[in-house]
Amino acid sequence: VTEKSAIFIIFGGSGDLAHRKLYPSLFRLYKSGFLKDHFAVIGTARRPWSDDYFRETVITSLKDYFDDEEEVMKEFSKHFFYQSHDVNDSEHYIALKNLAAKLDDQFKAGHNRVYYMAIAPRFFGTVAEHINSEGLKTADGYNRLVIEKPFGRDLDSACELNGNISKAFPEDDIYRIDHYLGKKMVQDIPVIRAQNDKFEEALNNKYVSNIQVTLAESIGVEDRGGYYETAGVLRDMVQNHIMQIIGAIASIDPKAKDAKVIHKNKCDLFGSLKDLTPEQVDTNFVRGQYDTDNLDDEKAYRQEDNVAEDSNIETFTAGKIEFENDRWSGVPFYIRSGKRMPDKSSRIDIVFNDNVTDLGIKANTVVTLLIERTNDHSILINGIDYKESAQDFIKFPEEKDFVGAREAYESLIIDILSGNRVNFTLWDELRSTWTYIDAIRERWDSQTPDFPNYVSGTMGPDAAEMLLERNGDSWVWDD
Ligand code: BG6
Repeated sequence: VTEKSAIFIIFGGSGDLAHRKLYPSLFRLYKSGFLKDHFAVIGTARRPWSDDYFRETVITSLKDYFDDEEEVMKEFSKHFFYQSHDVNDSEHYIALKNLAAKLDDQFKAGHNRVYYMAIAPRFFGTVAEHINSEGLKTADGYNRLVIEKPFGRDLDSACELNGNISKAFPEDDIYRIDHYLGKKMVQDIPVIRAQNDKFEEALNNKYVSNIQVTLAESIGVEDRGGYYETAGVLRDMVQNHIMQIIGAIASIDPKAKDAKVIHKNKCDLFGSLKDLTPEQVDTNFVRGQYDTDNLDDEKAYRQEDNVAEDSNIETFTAGKIEFENDRWSGVPFYIRSGKRMPDKSSRIDIVFNDNVTDLGIKANTVVTLLIERTNDHSILINGIDYKESAQDFIKFPEEKDFVGAREAYESLIIDILSGNRVNFTLWDELRSTWTYIDAIRERWDSQTPDFPNYVSGTMGPDAAEMLLERNGDSWVWDD
């Protein structure tokens, strides 16, 4: 482990994301030695907190996740400082700059800066511009901008946001987060492909019948109704996480190591998404919204806090995505995501056709890659943990022990500190995925759905089953 040095400036430092994800991840990196003496964290937000109060909030959050001695947490929290901040006030950026410079001297942080946007997206552009115009960037260290999702809510707003941050930071210094790319199992997909020649040989339209990506959640929208009303599952999960998972399984050359090559391959894949006409949106995409459960224990979406009583926002979608390229033309990528489904389940099911017998594989074999680290096995072949299956199809590259695997955010922060952009999304990828999503959204917004249309705790509306049945297919994961 090589210790990293940087000053983190966290915009939105008093917020939920910072306390639930960032501070616990920084603490893990502290315990494992990636962060040690040469770092400091400046939390900024509007409210006027003292350093001591801020540190207490950090320690309180850590206690939810760790049972370390309070002394260790206290030592860690000595690296934390607070600066109250109004995103529109230039003076405040000068104060931040001076504090960062002072802490850099104190902790010998090598003039490196990580500017982390954990605030409401409407402020991303303003903050990035001020960082630049008020001269916060250092001349002799790195200056990296980290952007949380959502990156826009459609192509136009994403373009505008990108225009604003690009004026202030070169593309190479921008780290757009999709936390699924920090998950160990998602990172392992190209590795599995690269190390299993037969599997890779079979991953194309000659041998694959269809690929299914499911990101199911059992929770509802919880306290995020306000945000969710502006999003819906299409923007919240499909445009980003599902597309990136498809990128990992379907783009060419999994052996590529260079970030630029990997990104180009992904861009090419998304560039070959088959456009949807409005009529194809109707036939290829299904939307749903959860109702109460049969016992009336769970709220319907329309009863959640900060949700309109007549909301037409979807909490479930299933769809058929297609590509127009040599490798994948003709293979449906069925995708599905929803809140208040029976279980939390994140998985890719690859259904092979009977040509695979040419490769010595049983006809209609199904390979399932499980994305959750809570599972103690991560690959199933025909529903059986691959180790016990007789199939000589896939070998996992390393011990499948997920116990020690890093949390998504922990791994992404290491990448940011190391200047490794492989696991972040590039603008060109977003442009293609937003274009695709916008076509669906526009069609949906022109029609009134019959919501609510699925009972809480179920697999979504029946139309999601029919979508596949029409092609003679069926969902592999069917609770
Ligand atoms: C987030 C979405 O990006 O991903 C949430 O905004 C969703 O709505 C979450 O719950 C799921 O992430 P994970 O890591 O729990 O699968």
